[in-house]
Amino acid sequence: MKNSFFISVRGMLSVTFVCITVSFSFSQQKSAVDSIDIKVEALLQKMTLEEKVGQMNQYNGFWNVTGPAPKGGDAKLKYEHLKKGLVGSVLNVEGTTNVRKLQEIVVNQSRLGIPLLFGLDVIHGHKTLSPIPLGESASWDLDAIEQSARAAATEASAVGICWTFAPMVDISRDARWGRVMEGAGEDPYLGSKIGIARVHGFQGNNLAAPTSIIACAKHFAGYGFVEAGREYNTVDVGTSTLYNIILPPFKAVVDNHVRTVMNAFNVLNGVPSTGNKFLQRDILKNKWGFDGFVISDWASGAEMVEHGFAKDLKQAAEIAANAGSDMDMQSYAYVTYLKQLVEEGKVDIKLVDDAVRRVLRVKFELGLFDNPYKYCDTKREQETINHPDTKTALDIARKSIVLLKNESSLLPLPKNQKNIAIIGSLANDKNSPLGSWRIGSDDSSAVSFLEGFNKYNTNYKYAKGADLTVGKTTFIRELQMNETDTSEFAQAIQFAKQSDVVIMVLGEHSFQSGEGRSRTKIGLPGVQQQLLEAVYRVNKNIILVLMNGRPLAIPWAAEHIPTILETWQLGTETGDAIAQVLFGTYNPSGKLPMTFPRSVGQCPIYYNHYNTGRPRPKSKDEVFFSHYTDESVNPLYPFGYGLSYTTFQYSNLIIDTTDNKNIKVRVTVTNTGTRVGEEVAQLYIHQRVASVVRPVKELKGFEKFSLQPKASKVVTFTLTDKELGFYNNDGNYVVEPGDFEVMVGTNSQEGLVGSFTKR
Ligand code: BGC
Repeated sequence: MKNSFFISVRGMLSVTFVCITVSFSFSQQKSAVDSIDIKVEALLQKMTLEEKVGQMNQYNGFWNVTGPAPKGGDAKLKYEHLKKGLVGSVLNVEGTTNVRKLQEIVVNQSRLGIPLLFGLDVIHGHKTLSPIPLGESASWDLDAIEQSARAAATEASAVGICWTFAPMVDISRDARWGRVMEGAGEDPYLGSKIGIARVHGFQGNNLAAPTSIIACAKHFAGYGFVEAGREYNTVDVGTSTLYNIILPPFKAVVDNHVRTVMNAFNVLNGVPSTGNKFLQRDILKNKWGFDGFVISDWASGAEMVEHGFAKDLKQAAEIAANAGSDMDMQSYAYVTYLKQLVEEGKVDIKLVDDAVRRVLRVKFELGLFDNPYKYCDTKREQETINHPDTKTALDIARKSIVLLKNESSLLPLPKNQKNIAIIGSLANDKNSPLGSWRIGSDDSSAVSFLEGFNKYNTNYKYAKGADLTVGKTTFIRELQMNETDTSEFAQAIQFAKQSDVVIMVLGEHSFQSGEGRSRTKIGLPGVQQQLLEAVYRVNKNIILVLMNGRPLAIPWAAEHIPTILETWQLGTETGDAIAQVLFGTYNPSGKLPMTFPRSVGQCPIYYNHYNTGRPRPKSKDEVFFSHYTDESVNPLYPFGYGLSYTTFQYSNLIIDTTDNKNIKVRVTVTNTGTRVGEEVAQLYIHQRVASVVRPVKELKGFEKFSLQPKASKVVTFTLTDKELGFYNNDGNYVVEPGDFEVMVGTNSQEGLVGSFTKR
């Protein structure tokens, strides 16, 4: 990629005045890159093999410097390594004072003074939290998502962090997997766009700027496809899924200059990702021209021994280095064995040099050699942390809410609504709405549902109905669900009986999703379903407000409860965002980025599946077709689905193939309701016949816009080879002429259909 950029720059230098003006900025960029390359080479020449290996080593924490060391830790060893230049990066150290302390040791005491990179999982904000990434993705609002990542970068950079291990661009189709909360859902097109927006948000326009931090696309690759949704499980996907579903979001962010990529815990075709040359060298670095560096996942190098792919840590180091894993997170594999492996001829020094160049280049790009304390401005830290950007967090939080059902128009609630019952422990919870992955935030720092509600209306009685959990609700395994205690039901039922409208706030605790939190039951946890049904028996006017980190299977609620609002885990501004939607200050506009199943037995379920050879019965009694005998094959709520307080009508679909290379698809969208509202118009295609069967539908365009009541808008999509092709089983992108179907509509199941022929 870099080379072709240079060639095109050189080719432009001698042409017209306009071109010279344009190429001037290109050549400036080129010379900046050139000068970094020169500096990297000069530094590399000075480095010993041991120091080179040091740049490829990342350690977790440094408690001996930043706080009390955990018992049995290896703090002393790490400290010595720091002074010898045997550490290139540190994770999980934050705060300008701590970061400065470590940076000073390296800069002042190690021979070459190469600054450290400080990495952290800044997944959906740092101290101030945006919605969990799956929630944010429901906004389909790329600008708002970018702004949210920007706000995260601003806070993280103020506390010493220059590298976030985000975005996770793993596509996943299985709600059992706890980490679906961390991604953009099931679709590679939407996932690519959101991945790019997040990378831009974190990295900004200029890496040398004080609030820019480097992003990390993870987990390369296939981690979202763990079998049966079980965390860290085997991944076994076909080539077509790999090329068309799993890899595109990674390619998209690599094309948009993401500086780091993290490999994964899983195997792909029996080869662990960390030792996977095909993924890391052949595809990522050679085919895509990625010039940043690859970080392993936490100890994933060492885990190749457990996988049965390396006999010991030394062989794990050899395999990982040869396969293109540039930096080792907390395995001690490189720092212990890589020097020896080079000396024994088992790892070519050229590969080590290549890895070190990549790491150094990023450090230069960040400006750390000019100022290693760039992220250690204590004054900025105080100012930023004391003035949280709650406006950005609130904006994305309300945009992430999805209205799933509003049958008897219970919503929006009148501001002076009387006789309300609010039920559910999550309504009074300031912790769960923060979601998983919130290392830098304070526990219980969210605006709770009730706190937000109070700002509009206090005509309610509150009963928790049931505790969601018993015992500890911390980041460890001890989280236990309340599966039996119904002692609080009576009061909830009594309040419901006395009320005109009941709001039930139910769902998951924040640590029921996230890493290591796979579940086989994805209904309402604990006794909440029982509570919902008990309340329904006395009052059917229920607004169900869901808080959860994954799609839930809630078929009973979908059938019986008139109004359902999906609010995910919305972060710091949860209560305010939900209140704005409940009372109509904000008209909900979110659309599901992931299919909601009817039952867990349907998982994995996703909209862009193949047709099968037997999609429907030939007669009424036919049994030999693709179906379940005890459940529909259809989802509860499809991908792309979400309602508004107004209604939108689609009309006048026009497909213009005059320019067959730029096929125009136009549709008119009209706000047919009485309120201003936002809609996301979605375009799906299906190629009828191809050399590799095509999914029944594939998202290839969307546009989010606002419309006044009765106003219309013509939305135009352009279909080029970029949208109409696919990767064949050799991994080559091909565009095959033929017949296509098009659907433009409000979700993946409803829309206007047409067709065209691609020549
Ligand atoms: C996760 C990564 C994360 C890393 C560092 C691992 O367990 O899989 O996504 O970035 O830990 O915290």
